[in-house]
Amino acid sequence: MFKLIPLLLLALGVEAQNRPIRLWTPEVGEKWQIILNSTIAINRTTNLVPKGVRIWEVDLFDTPRETIRELKRRGNRVICYFSAGTTEDWRPDFRNFTSEDKGACLPEWVGERYVDIRKPSVFNLMRERIRLAGQKGCDAIDPDNIDVFSNEQGFATNITRNDAIAYFRKLADEARQLRISTGLKNAQPMLPSVQDVVQFAVNEECTIYNELTPRPAEPPRGKAVFHVEYANFKFDNQSTSIGAPEISNDDIDQLKNMSSRALYDKYCNRNTEFDGLFSTTIKIMNLDGQVLYCDGQFADTKMMPLNPILKGWAGECNLTKSESGAGVAAANGTLVTPPFANATSTTIVVTPNGPVVIPTAPPKQPRSIRRWYGRG
Ligand SMILES: *[C@@H]1O[C@H](CO)[C@@H](O)[C@H](O)[C@H]1NC(C)=O
Ligand SMILES: *[C@@H]1O[C@H](CO)[C@@H](O)[C@H](O)[C@H]1NC(C)=O
Ligand SMILES: *[C@@H]1O[C@H](CO)[C@@H](O)[C@H](O)[C@H]1NC(C)=O
Ligand SMILES: *[C@@H]1O[C@H](CO)[C@@H](O)[C@H](O)[C@H]1NC(C)=O
Ligand SMILES: *[C@@H]1O[C@H](CO)[C@@H](O)[C@H](O)[C@H]1NC(C)=O
Ligand SMILES: *[C@@H]1O[C@H](CO)[C@@H](O)[C@H](O)[C@H]1NC(C)=O
Ligand SMILES: *[C@@H]1O[C@H](CO)[C@@H](O)[C@H](O)[C@H]1NC(C)=O
Ligand SMILES: *[C@@H]1O[C@H](CO)[C@@H](O)[C@H](O)[C@H]1NC(C)=O
Ligand SMILES: *[C@@H]1O[C@H](CO)[C@@H](O)[C@H](O)[C@H]1NC(C)=O
Repeated sequence: MFKLIPLLLLALGVEAQNRPIRLWTPEVGEKWQIILNSTIAINRTTNLVPKGVRIWEVDLFDTPRETIRELKRRGNRVICYFSAGTTEDWRPDFRNFTSEDKGACLPEWVGERYVDIRKPSVFNLMRERIRLAGQKGCDAIDPDNIDVFSNEQGFATNITRNDAIAYFRKLADEARQLRISTGLKNAQPMLPSVQDVVQFAVNEECTIYNELTPRPAEPPRGKAVFHVEYANFKFDNQSTSIGAPEISNDDIDQLKNMSSRALYDKYCNRNTEFDGLFSTTIKIMNLDGQVLYCDGQFADTKMMPLNPILKGWAGECNLTKSESGAGVAAANGTLVTPPFANATSTTIVVTPNGPVVIPTAPPKQPRSIRRWYGRG
């Protein structure tokens, strides 16, 4: 329950404003779209849906400069995603991390390891990523996986919350100097210590994983909270002419018996003190083009053909579990999606001849760990 309170303080605009550089600060409740699965198909002639959405979050590395330029030419703001707390073995700077920089694998995300955010060498590589964001024209960054301190990280001494706060403040300062805004991704317990350096928050699944507390009787002002809740869409082709989906969530026990309408209302915090305070999107966990908003708007943003990314190809970390159903790509470019239906039963080992799927029975992760693993 306490985890939502810092988010609330953010939405209420509690911030020490003492910096001369003016940064883009989105309005509370503005709509956004987040796509990390592939890149948006856009050029000067293409239509872009959803209409009326002016804030786009995209992958820093995968998204071409031209895509960001075109989005901005049309008056959009662009938030660029990267992982600041893990290495991903398909990224162009992956080989620049030393073995001392890297800790434990993330069990649910192939090819990802925690990085030692206390090390200057790690910060320096992240600073390069922020500079890349500047070169590509990103208005803001969404540095993910800041909250490593909550997990088993695999270092001789554990990264603490204070380490994460110090690191995050340095990242935000670097961004600020390039006139790039910074959002806090998840990590709500850190918010009171970083409010003065963030312009918004990005949050995954706070509605599902927290009880909502009553909000003090103050008008919302201050910072946006870009909020995503995950669901599976089912198209009934009846609802509207554009085929707005029914939603279901088969993954989470507490939601299993809900009607799709009730599930929708829950995700949108209807009839709670949070109604209207968050910029909520409902998306499939693979963060593709489909998005449902709380006003009923549904759209499917056109994407470039999927270009399989060789996740796990460097043999860094074997996948032991997948929440997202993400596959790994074989050497021939085929996306191999292993049989994850029985969630605890698969390991992928990447060999020189491609990924090999091995049924195993690794220990089940406690549910509370899941929220730290949002890819987006
Ligand atoms: C723009 O994108 C559309 C859809 O992806 C494509 O059909 C068209 O050829 C592109 N136009 C240019 C000039 O690249
Ligand atoms: C990574 O290492 C390569 C090769 O040593 C070097 O050319 C490149 O500048 C480094 N990149 C970063 C971001 O430090
Ligand atoms: C790090 O923290 C985890 C989780 O609290 C704990 O299980 C582990 O023993 C700690 N490791 C070290 C090296 O202190
Ligand atoms: C329902 O709509 C979806 C999305 O537009 C489409 O892919 C699917 O083929 C349709 N199904 C039927 C039975 O019409
Ligand atoms: C769903 O409802 C049925 C019947 O009321 C009940 O037996 C079951 O425990 C419920 N399941 C969950 C996950 O709440
Ligand atoms: C990306 O989205 C497509 C379409 O929904 C899906 O088939 C694919 O598995 C997704 N890939 C990842 C890595 O999530
Ligand atoms: C991945 O699995 C292979 C085969 O079991 C093993 O040799 C390798 O050490 C594993 N890699 C990691 C990072 O655990
Ligand atoms: C997965 O679980 C289903 C039902 O729970 C079962 O029928 C199926 O045999 C299982 N598959 C594997 C590969 O264990
Ligand atoms: C590509 O590699 C995968 C995994 O090794 C294999 O299953 C698939 O048949 C290959 N596809 C082609 C067209 O060679």
